[in-house]
Amino acid sequence: MFRCSSCETTSQKWSGRCLKCGAWSTLVEAPDEPKKGRRATGNNSATTEPIALHALGLDSGGGAKIAPRLDVGMADVNEILGGGIVAGSLLLLAGEPGIGKSTIVMQIAVAARGVLYISGEESAEQVGLRLQRLDTAKKSNVAFVGTTDYEVVHNAIHAQHPSLAIIDSVQTMRHPDVAGEPGGVAQVRAIANALMELANQTGVPVILIGHVTKDGSVAGPKTLEHLVDVVLSLEGERTDRLRFLRCFKNRFGPTDEVAVLEMLENGLQPVADPSGLLLEERSLPVPGTVVTCLMDGNRPLLVEIQALTTKTTFGFPQRRAQGVDNARLQILLAVLGRRMGLPVDQYDVFVNVVGGISANEPAADLAICMAIASSIAEKTIPQTVLAFGEVGLSGEIRRVKNSDKRLKEAERQGFKFALVPAVKNAPAMKNLKVVAISDIKSVLEKIEK
Ligand code: TYD
Ligand code: MG
Repeated sequence: MFRCSSCETTSQKWSGRCLKCGAWSTLVEAPDEPKKGRRATGNNSATTEPIALHALGLDSGGGAKIAPRLDVGMADVNEILGGGIVAGSLLLLAGEPGIGKSTIVMQIAVAARGVLYISGEESAEQVGLRLQRLDTAKKSNVAFVGTTDYEVVHNAIHAQHPSLAIIDSVQTMRHPDVAGEPGGVAQVRAIANALMELANQTGVPVILIGHVTKDGSVAGPKTLEHLVDVVLSLEGERTDRLRFLRCFKNRFGPTDEVAVLEMLENGLQPVADPSGLLLEERSLPVPGTVVTCLMDGNRPLLVEIQALTTKTTFGFPQRRAQGVDNARLQILLAVLGRRMGLPVDQYDVFVNVVGGISANEPAADLAICMAIASSIAEKTIPQTVLAFGEVGLSGEIRRVKNSDKRLKEAERQGFKFALVPAVKNAPAMKNLKVVAISDIKSVLEKIEK
């Protein structure tokens, strides 16, 4: 049997090109199913004795006998992990190249003490320079191993028994028992499986770094999400200094938590006031911009939505969005056309969310519509106005979650008017006038006031 090392398709006959994915010279002979890291474990003591769960002595507050979690040094990051890193767990840290994955794990390594840093990407000198920059107190003791061979990784973790092992990155490691190129689905899975077993056996927590590309590479961390205990994702625009560390999956804690960080000279540092930072560089008031309030996990975040509309000169009008789902934009444009009578079909429409943030939350609808309407009408929305609310197909403005949190943040940032869906018991605001909007038609009238 032959197996393609890039897409894992098997075939009975060898050919120069994989018939499924079209890659050249990727078919390799595969006698049977890959031996999933059996050689590397060498331990066949499978437990069969049932465990009396009630006798474990766990309390309802999370369990008294659970080992203390490893402190990663950054309060926000500890929090999104549910209180630190659990012993023997496998964490996946995913993100685009250059976003700051190696930086944040080094910061964790500095805080955790006694960490083993394994890199298949960088030399000891490169990693050492980064450490020097981040560990100004020079107190950390980080051990480095440069390898791409999984067996070396396995032996190093067994020999050192570090407080934490960091593997940078899954795409560069090669498992000796599995065919295929490093970075391919088969290899990436084998590495993750083997590390999971190793972490469980030794109790050493492991952070596995995985690169993702904008288009989502085949062997990307997506294929690993169900294997690992925790999935963290570091996001943001590389050109911008703001980063978001999100937790998508967590077997030991909450998900949907976000840490907002800023890439500075001394690594990724927490941002105390993300909304302020995002609004700091606001442009002069021009038609087509309005601020909305998103929820990032439990935190309100004020961001500016920008729309630019130009008369379509030829063919179909164009619609482009950054930070907003294109399909959502199409729907909102249809609503603006039908319910507000805006001539949207005569305009090319470009929408952008400032700061590389994604506003894929229905609460952004109203602000997106207002930005587009403001651009077409060439009317500036005052910078003291903020808007949020979901826009329904008949043009009605619907309620969104966490209204009061959003309003409080708006007031804190000095906004004077908030256009929001009509809510029962709207909180009374001292310095913010809350204007209830029931349908999209009334929005423009309100703007003009
Ligand atoms: P890096 O962690 O190497 O990204 P990744 O591992 O995700 O590919 O870091 C990316 C960028 O961060 C790099 O361009 C340099 C910058 N950087 C800082 O701005 N400050 C710092 O303290 C460090 C260590 C890096
Ligand atoms: Mg890196």
